[in-house]
Amino acid sequence: MNKFTPAKPAGARSVDEITGSRRLRRMRKADWSRRLVQENRLTVDDLIWPIFIIDGENRKETIPAMPGVYRMSVDLAVKEAERAAKLGIPALATFPNVEMELRDQTGAHILEPDNIINRATRAIKAAVPEIGIITDVALDPFTSHGHDGILRDGIIVNDETVAQVAAAAVLQAAAGSDIIAPSDMMDGRIGAIRDALDDNGFHDVAIMSYATKFASAFYGPYREAIGTQGLLKGDKKTYYIDHANSDEAVREAEQDLAEGADMLMVKPGLPYLDIIRRLKDEFRVPTFAYQVSGEYSMIKAASANGWIDGEKAMLESLLAFKRAGCDGILTYFAPEVAEMLKG
Ligand code: PBG
Repeated sequence: MNKFTPAKPAGARSVDEITGSRRLRRMRKADWSRRLVQENRLTVDDLIWPIFIIDGENRKETIPAMPGVYRMSVDLAVKEAERAAKLGIPALATFPNVEMELRDQTGAHILEPDNIINRATRAIKAAVPEIGIITDVALDPFTSHGHDGILRDGIIVNDETVAQVAAAAVLQAAAGSDIIAPSDMMDGRIGAIRDALDDNGFHDVAIMSYATKFASAFYGPYREAIGTQGLLKGDKKTYYIDHANSDEAVREAEQDLAEGADMLMVKPGLPYLDIIRRLKDEFRVPTFAYQVSGEYSMIKAASANGWIDGEKAMLESLLAFKRAGCDGILTYFAPEVAEMLKG
């Protein structure tokens, strides 16, 4: 008798009779076979690093709610841009913490060609031309009330905000920004920005639309980082998408693409993987996620308490974006994960 034929008690049903010999564990049995069938991979090319800029020189401030993230003066941001480029990170996204006395009701300081964000772009582009620069045109770092638009009689006025945002985009492009990423969610902003860029000869400056930005509790630490936390009264529900909605997110993305967006972004990230997948399936355009401050801080905090393995949770969350259909991820983990992927 063949010694490989297992003896089976009479009448017993074998596992293979149940599975029809389809055993998915076969390919999971070893590291080599798991690597062989791995469907998605995270590489340094997937990373966009959001950084916070402040005025002054040789200044670096901690952000208590975001351990490991700093506000940096332009000279230090240039050094970090050099480090990022060496690591192979394709692009940076810059966000300013503007001096309080420069903030006002309409966010007029965004129209100052030499404001902190445009100075940062010029300095980084001069020192590290090979790294991409993505700039936001939302007004929130510049307004005295922390809203993304012009506030009048308790209302964020749409069209006036769009005009200002489009003008700011031209100044950011003139400073050297490669991609304008408007996060304000005003209607019509993508078309207006595209027209303004083209009218001023910036045909090659792209637009990454924060197409589906949800009203979310996960932005808390960011508001500390840029100093809007104490300013903001109420919420942003009259312009960000209700986080209960999915069809509306598709309509937003469709509209932004029709107006000329080159890329779409979903924000926040992990709680919205369903939206990422829907947009990727529907439109097949470059699609990004913003793993926002609250997502970063939750992983850092749980890790600091020894409740989860922070590095593994970081990698798992980032790979989840790739699996959901993302072409890239804005993440505060960018330099940390780039170092890890190198090693
Ligand atoms: C506002 C803006 C937000 C973020 C970036 N730009 C949200 C907000 O403050 O309402 C959030 C980024 C993050 O949480 O990491 N235009």
